[in-house]
Amino acid sequence: MAEDLAAQVSGLSLDDIVAKYPNCHPTINPFDLYRGHLANVLHDVTGVDHKIIYPNLQWTSGLDKGDIILAAPSLRVKGKKPDELAKEWGAKFPEDPLFQPPTVTNYFISFFLKSAPLTKAVLPMIRSLGSEYGRNKFNGLRDPSDPSKGKKRIIVEFSSPNIAKPFHAGHLRSTIIGGFIANVYDAAGWDVVRINYLGDWGKQYGLLALAYEKYGDEEALKRDPINHLFELYVKMNADMSREKEEIAQEKAEGKDVTEREANSLDEQARRYFRKMTDGDPDAVALWKRFRELSIVRYKETYARLNIHFDEYSGESQVSETAMEKIAKEMAEKKISTESEGAMIVNFAELIPGKEGKRLERPIVRKKDGTALYLTRDISELLNRHEKYHFDKMIYVVASAQDLHLKQLFKIIELLGYNDIAAKCQHINFGLVLGMSTRKGTVKFLDDILRDVADKMHDVMKKNDDKYSQVENPEATADILGISSVMVQDMSGKRINNYTFNMETMTSFEGDTGPYLQYAHARICSIERRAGLTQEELESADMSLLTEAHAINLIRLLAQWPDVVQTVLKTYEPTNILTYLFKMTHVLSGSYDHLRIVGSEPELKKARMALYDAARIVLSNGMRLLGLDPVERY
Ligand code: ARG
Repeated sequence: MAEDLAAQVSGLSLDDIVAKYPNCHPTINPFDLYRGHLANVLHDVTGVDHKIIYPNLQWTSGLDKGDIILAAPSLRVKGKKPDELAKEWGAKFPEDPLFQPPTVTNYFISFFLKSAPLTKAVLPMIRSLGSEYGRNKFNGLRDPSDPSKGKKRIIVEFSSPNIAKPFHAGHLRSTIIGGFIANVYDAAGWDVVRINYLGDWGKQYGLLALAYEKYGDEEALKRDPINHLFELYVKMNADMSREKEEIAQEKAEGKDVTEREANSLDEQARRYFRKMTDGDPDAVALWKRFRELSIVRYKETYARLNIHFDEYSGESQVSETAMEKIAKEMAEKKISTESEGAMIVNFAELIPGKEGKRLERPIVRKKDGTALYLTRDISELLNRHEKYHFDKMIYVVASAQDLHLKQLFKIIELLGYNDIAAKCQHINFGLVLGMSTRKGTVKFLDDILRDVADKMHDVMKKNDDKYSQVENPEATADILGISSVMVQDMSGKRINNYTFNMETMTSFEGDTGPYLQYAHARICSIERRAGLTQEELESADMSLLTEAHAINLIRLLAQWPDVVQTVLKTYEPTNILTYLFKMTHVLSGSYDHLRIVGSEPELKKARMALYDAARIVLSNGMRLLGLDPVERY
């Protein structure tokens, strides 16, 4: 393990490099040891401060370019051409126990790991860390040298659908990406609070209550609250448009419509919502039932995606008193000004230049005193800070709301809470095009998942042999379907739009969810057939793994903890997927070369231990993405 690697180098101790380099944790990340040692050696070679060298030891774009690469100019040594420096340093690099003699191309110096110490150290490390391999509990510590000071806390707000309205692609992506980001922080040892900020308040919920009085069905509500409420909502909206047309018609005919207007559905909804905000017990009780029944259903669906929330917050949970307080504060601090009876934030006047203009002039309080989406977010943000004392808060919301979140963070800053604003970050994403179910356009997450599971079930049935061995095909089809949807969503950069394509995402070929599941199930099946015990794998002699295929696979497996670390900076699930596909391709390419069947017992053990390490990494990666790795399908 890491100790074994360090022991190869005389005078190298883990404690030394941990103390010397920031965020360096060789016991859980083999590359930290390699970088630490390499920085030490390069310091002697170049004379440059080791602290400057360490962060410039980069990954390579592929195994053929080495395991670690250094661009000579990054060390900022003056007086010589970078190409010459690279050549000079390359030549001066001493014989090393962990690295092969470096290769120099232009001003790049590539370092390749020596395979014997790598193999001996990394595979046991993966085995012993198991599901912890790739996790870095040090990252989230307030003080990495003193765990008793506790963990840093992050709030991840994601999913946030609107009750009685469709769960659209924006919510789907927020759910998938947000779940992933929460997992990444959890793996990095942070204290993660997952919040779902429901759209559950506003005049439209007054209309919904009226609809329930008119068309509601108690049984249907209990059975399927989400669909029933949506139906009511659709019916009532249709009634409302019809009524609007009629009134317009009557008006055009010269009739007096004052009374009709005063009693219109729109007006009734407004009055009903007023009752809700005034705390009328019946009105509040009915709405509360809608909310609670919906949450029960949401929870079931989220559970299928391995997602849970610590708090179901929502627009309704923002208190009127808190909003009045903040409205006053904004006015006093001259952040908001009056405009035609309403209160607005005139950014152009507050911030000179383009930035102010770009932020526009959002309303924060309507003429009649009602608060808006933005007002609620301001209040909610400050409230969360008070309640959770978070170190960081991430909003996972579609890029359609970029402006909204910019306005929100800016207002918090202008109010003087710069430190709080600095802790907040918007993680955005693009659109999903062409998302529809077999029955038509998508309404709810369940509809999508059911459809994809059906499709997956059809795909599975095509292989009779395998199908008959699956214990619970429906459940497996469900998991494979969910993997399809999730992997498709996370394949590209977040900001890119993508087209929802049932055919490609459910295919076992190409870089898809089913392919990853297949890769995982295949290792499991090889393990089942080999029938080796854990003890046998543990005692395997790794030095027997000398073929290029084995070494390349191990080099990739050693990178895993570093890959997880990068997503803390990029927030791109595609970084994980790219790695997993690269690794599984190398893995599947090695099966023909590193055979289990027919090998000598000792070689068989070593190879199986290698495959088992690949299984651990694949499974850890899939779980980080929110997927359930299946053992057979
Ligand atoms: N419910 C909102 C919508 O569907 C998303 C909420 C985003 N979060 C927030 N804090 N504004 O558009």
